[in-house]
Amino acid sequence: MIRIDNLTKKFGQFTAVNGLSFTVAPGEVLGFLGPNGAGKSTTMKMITGFLAPTSGHVSIMGHDVAHHPVKAKQLIGYLPEGAPSYGDMTVLQFLRFVGQVRGYRGAELAARIERCQHALQLDKVLNQPIETLSKGFRRRVGLAQAIIHDPQVLILDEPTDGLDPNQKHEVRNLIANLSKDKIVIVSTHILEEVSAVCSRAIIIAGGKILADGTPAQLEARSRFHGAVTLGLEHASNAQQILSALPQVDHIEAGEDHTLIVFPKAGQQLFEVVNNAIQQHQWQVRELHVERGRLDEVFRDITREVA
Ligand SMILES: Nc1ncnc2c1ncn2[C@@H]1O[C@H](COP(=O)(O)OP(=O)(O)OP(=O)(O)O)[C@@H](O)[C@H]1O
Ligand SMILES: [Mg+2]
Repeated sequence: MIRIDNLTKKFGQFTAVNGLSFTVAPGEVLGFLGPNGAGKSTTMKMITGFLAPTSGHVSIMGHDVAHHPVKAKQLIGYLPEGAPSYGDMTVLQFLRFVGQVRGYRGAELAARIERCQHALQLDKVLNQPIETLSKGFRRRVGLAQAIIHDPQVLILDEPTDGLDPNQKHEVRNLIANLSKDKIVIVSTHILEEVSAVCSRAIIIAGGKILADGTPAQLEARSRFHGAVTLGLEHASNAQQILSALPQVDHIEAGEDHTLIVFPKAGQQLFEVVNNAIQQHQWQVRELHVERGRLDEVFRDITREVA
């Protein structure tokens, strides 16, 4: 597993990462969330041994990154922020170079490049210089070099930034299919991505961990958790009737002329709302129980620090 122990990074007087400690186990896909400048990329740079911490330790499957950097780095695939690469190389030259640095030659190297180019759909651009690629293709090349050695640990700094919707989908699938026994840490600003691919999320701001849990646990901190959104036709009395139910705390207007019915603490609303619908024979256009809204939780948690 990955063990991060009291990790701190200072740039002069400024503390970018402030005493982070956590562990990540095989099979986990950990999402790193946080506002701009939170310290996500700096933490990832230290986990991958790209940047030395001011204090604290990182160990990858038992190998301390500072003391056994080569051993640790063999286990890691890393997509740095902005997917830097060598612009004057073609995609094929670059992947060959990375593969050779990773120690592959001959047929093995060719097979690995082929697997990567297929996974990231790079066939059409293989012989194009990287500096002439579009932003999304450059990111795909960055992802390809990160998985060429089929690493145990993948550290991906905003892997889907700048990708078109199809490629976002592909990359999320790639991560989901990879992750069975691997460790993935992925930073993102796309909150749906966290629900879609992560088994766990850490919210950091000001270099500190503010929340750590499954996406469902974080969503459950939302004031919308357990509320029922209801869209009705021709039911002008609905708000009044629902407000009178003992389980209902209050009602707010939602989008598209819906009502958002909030439960009192500890109450379940779906059944009582459903009963009211039957009883009054309302015509239902929309009805669902809210899981909670990650964007709202994110704002609440990070607002003070920001
Ligand atoms: N080399 C450096 N010298 C000085 N300050 C730095 C350096 N690298 C990062 N910082 C500062 O550390 C803080 C954390 O930066 P970091 O890149 O880790 O944030 P982030 O969470 O990845 O943000 P973003 O969402 O914008 O990518 C920022 O205030 C940044 O300006
Ligand atoms: Mg960053």
